Formats: sequence, C-alpha cells, structure tokens
Amino acid sequence: RNYHFYHSLGSSNDTAKHLAREGATEGTVVLAEEQNAGKGRLGRPWHSPAGLGLYFSLIIRPSIPLALAPQVTLLTAVSICKTLEKLDLEPTIKWPNDVLLEGKKVCGILTELSAEMDGIKYLIIGIGINVNHRLQDFPDSVAHKATSINIVSGQEIDRVLFLNKLLITLEEDYRHWLEQDFSPFRQEWLQRAAGLGEKVRVLTGTVEWTGRLEGIDDMGALLLRNEAGELQHLMSGEVTLRP
Ligand code: BTN
Repeated sequence: RNYHFYHSLGSSNDTAKHLAREGATEGTVVLAEEQNAGKGRLGRPWHSPAGLGLYFSLIIRPSIPLALAPQVTLLTAVSICKTLEKLDLEPTIKWPNDVLLEGKKVCGILTELSAEMDGIKYLIIGIGINVNHRLQDFPDSVAHKATSINIVSGQEIDRVLFLNKLLITLEEDYRHWLEQDFSPFRQEWLQRAAGLGEKVRVLTGTVEWTGRLEGIDDMGALLLRNEAGELQHLMSGEVTLRP
C-alpha cells in the first residue's frame, strides 16, 4: 500500500483529492495525526484532535457506473463494524454510514468523487474514527451524541493495529464487491442496521419524511414506509432515530 502520513492537515480528503488528481494509484492511504479543517457530511466540521482518533482517506478507482458509488460507503461502514466486532463490541449503522456504539457515533464516513462521462475518475473515502477520546475531548455541541472505542471498551486502543485490521478487512470486502455485487453486503448492512422497523424522521434538503425504517434496497437507497403505506426510496438525507 502507498501511505502518505502527515502530522497535521486541513482535511485528509482534500489532500487525497489533490494526490488523486496528480495520479495517485488505487489503494493510496492519506493519514493525518490531526486535522484543522476536518470535514463531515452536510458541511459540518469533524473535530480531529491529535493523538486520539484515526483520520484518513483512501483513494480508489473502481470501474463502475456512478450510480453504484454510494454502495462503496455502505460497504465501508460494514467493514468498520466487522473490525469493531473483533474487539467484542456491538456496533450498529445509522443510514447511510454512521457507525454507532451504544447508540452514539463512533465513526463517520465522507465520500467524495470525481466523475466524467465515461465513469468514475477517482473516489475518496474519508474515515474519521473516535478511538481514544474521553468524553471531555469532544466539543460541547457533539458530546451528547458522540462516543469512542475507548469509552465503550474501557481500554486504550492501539491506533496503528486497529487501522491495519480495518484496511485488511476493507480491502477484502471491496474486492468481493467488485467481483460480485452488493447483495451480500446489503445483508451484512441490514444485520447491523440501527432503528430497523422503528419510526424515524428523514430530512432530505428541506423536505422532511417520517415513516417506518424498512432497510435499504439493492442499490443502497433507504426504504421508508410512510403512513399511507407507500414505500419510499430515499437516496440521500439525514436520519433521526426515535424522533
Ligand atoms: C460525517 O459523519 O459527517 C463524516 C465524517 C468524516 C470525517 C473524516 S476524517 C478523515 C476525512 N477527512 C475529512 O476532512 N473528513 C473525513
């Protein structure tokens, strides 16, 4: 693997994008000990203090139609869960790809891509994991909904070992997905889905949907059953569990 390690970055996704434009190969890993401008989904910041978390981005170049790109992020969430399960933890996934421990967020994924007429040029999978954070390390604005592997397991975690295990699992899953299709990962995703069968609220842009969470379809879209009994397929949005 091709590793780029930085002590401090704005955002590892931005650096990865830059390297991808310069021709960095599939499998390139861009890792930052800390980020000053870590980015989350929906324009939110990702707090990335030194020494506590894992903040990294992967460059991949799959030859797939653009419409399949969201599946890579769902698959990544599953690989992260499997790695946490090796530590005897019980993660769940909040659609599309927040990984939770005890109902609180331990990991976020931000995928960005560059596409052309003939398909995807590169895809950046940005992963932020709260590893050795203590409760007081989170900003007040997220402290009620964030957790870390350390908080839940009660153990100091070796970040390098964890990253290695994760990258091995992720690479294996990614290869399987390229060779086969999404269906086995859809099952693995559903096994870990948070809030399945429960009433949830989904905000997509300015439109709010409520309904029963029924899972994801074979493309990776969220399945929501509304009060009228119709099944809706949502491609993006922010889920609130137990509204
Ligand atoms: C989210 O849940 O909102 C996604 C968070 C993604 C954070 C990671 S940290 C490494 C990579 N670089 C970034 O700027 N963001 C992602």
